[in-house]
Amino acid sequence: MPLVETPERLVVVHRDKQLLADASAARLALACADAQASRGMAQIVLTGGSMGSAIIASLVASPLRNAVGWTMVEVWWGDERYLDTGDPDRNETQARDAGLDSLGLDAFRVHPMAGPDRAESTEQATGLYARELASGMRGPDPRGVSVPDFDVVMLGVGPDAHVASLFPGHPALKSQAAAVAVHNSPKPPPDRVSLTFRSLESARQVWFLVSGDDKAEAVARSLGGASREEAPAGSVHGRESTVWLVDRAAATDLR
Ligand code: 6PG
Repeated sequence: MPLVETPERLVVVHRDKQLLADASAARLALACADAQASRGMAQIVLTGGSMGSAIIASLVASPLRNAVGWTMVEVWWGDERYLDTGDPDRNETQARDAGLDSLGLDAFRVHPMAGPDRAESTEQATGLYARELASGMRGPDPRGVSVPDFDVVMLGVGPDAHVASLFPGHPALKSQAAAVAVHNSPKPPPDRVSLTFRSLESARQVWFLVSGDDKAEAVARSLGGASREEAPAGSVHGRESTVWLVDRAAATDLR
């Protein structure tokens, strides 16, 4: 497995999507075990999209899932489509369909974002999530953003280099809050709730999970120093580490 190290981040290239998902799931299990050994709890942020489902399916099948005390894992989402609970297009539904509930999590520690069945508007859903994030804080708030001490934030990347629901050139990029309501998303559905850059970057580790040659240009642009407005993915860094987990197809344009 080739490794490419830069001063700012690590890029790990796996052979194909299945190996990428399996290796990332193993990495996640061990990161949760490490966090629990250090702090008693693990706080993780899930991504939507195909990689979000793939890593959960791999985790469910991995023997390393037994390294984690799942009742002591808090699960959050980086973004959600503003759709009713159970809608097949919700990131939450897709994570549950991939087997999230079979891990043995405590239901009270799983924090989906609200849809129209629980909040009248995306703004209300955003406000509810910001409060839930603040109530999940356990210690000091060095970054002043009032979110839990996330151990790992996972992010899929779109072909336009978006992450979560932070799209190139979109006004939501400028939010300084913990979460932001997103309208007119270029990727359907148009209304979404997203964590902001400030929240994502408060994480100890930020991992990007990217598969497929349709993402090659976005990966190269993100790692090539494009601006935050042009390539939101490229500008997100973890406090301790930033790791790009990609398959060979997504790495095609890296040199
Ligand atoms: C969403 C996702 C989004 C996704 C990327 C990558 O709600 O649509 O959160 O940010 O992660 O678009 O998606 P794929 O892994 O399916 O390419």
